[in-house]
Amino acid sequence: MKTLKTLSEMKAWSREAHQDGKTIGLVPTMGYLHEGHLSLVRKSISTCDRTVVSIFVNPRQFGPNEDLDAYPRDEESDRSKLDQLGVDALFLPTADEMYPEGFQTYVHVEEITDKLCGKSRRELFRGVTTIVLKLFHLVQPHSAFFGEKDRQQLEVIRKMVDDLNLDIEIVGLPIIRELDGLALSSRNQYLGEAERETAKSLHEALQQAQQLVAQGESSAETLRSRMRSIIEREGQAQVDYISVCDPKRFEELEEVRGKAMIALAVHVGKARLIDNCLIERI
Ligand code: PAF
Repeated sequence: MKTLKTLSEMKAWSREAHQDGKTIGLVPTMGYLHEGHLSLVRKSISTCDRTVVSIFVNPRQFGPNEDLDAYPRDEESDRSKLDQLGVDALFLPTADEMYPEGFQTYVHVEEITDKLCGKSRRELFRGVTTIVLKLFHLVQPHSAFFGEKDRQQLEVIRKMVDDLNLDIEIVGLPIIRELDGLALSSRNQYLGEAERETAKSLHEALQQAQQLVAQGESSAETLRSRMRSIIEREGQAQVDYISVCDPKRFEELEEVRGKAMIALAVHVGKARLIDNCLIERI
């Protein structure tokens, strides 16, 4: 596996792959890789000729009181996981090169970024779309791979790609969970033992809502309040949002008819955890 540290090394690698007629898959990450990331990498390797994984803890998508400095990092372990899978190139840009002094251009997807995670994390999506578009320009991938745990992020990126006519296939892949249902996340690392127990309630709440819908419940408010009571049963959990919404526009629903998304964001100790699922009521 090649390690590419500078933007010019990345561009030269991409140019060569394009000249050789190879398709490129990009897996953008912030590192501290877990099975969720690795499932994206495996998909890229199985569907593209060349796979690049980027690791960059993007400072522009963290708010002033968020966990940028504490965000877990383990470059050696990440490198060995990627090497074992057969990744072709690891892109490790520096913040100074990505955001040189005087940097002032951002990409902003409107409306759908005001909802859910965008409401409580104002910097998040502007930072995500800006860095992802920069990565797209540097890597020139044919396909890019993202996890459905961040379903709003995935839809925001799809919207950007659509609106800006980028010729890149965006592939979303299912959430990977622990045996007890907790969605894998680099931030699970912040959880102590008791908090880890509490964290299971997110998946439990989603399952309960799915079950209610299967039994015929259509009131979104009933689903929200049932989920809230499951989460708040755990003293240490603090709800940011519990949403039953349209899966593309993220507007809250009154009644579940057809497709809907159920999504949660909950603070447990130092970790802000998110989870979601799609439901369909015919
Ligand atoms: O999902 C993430 O890890 C990040 O938001 C991403 C897409 C790598 C952009 O920094």
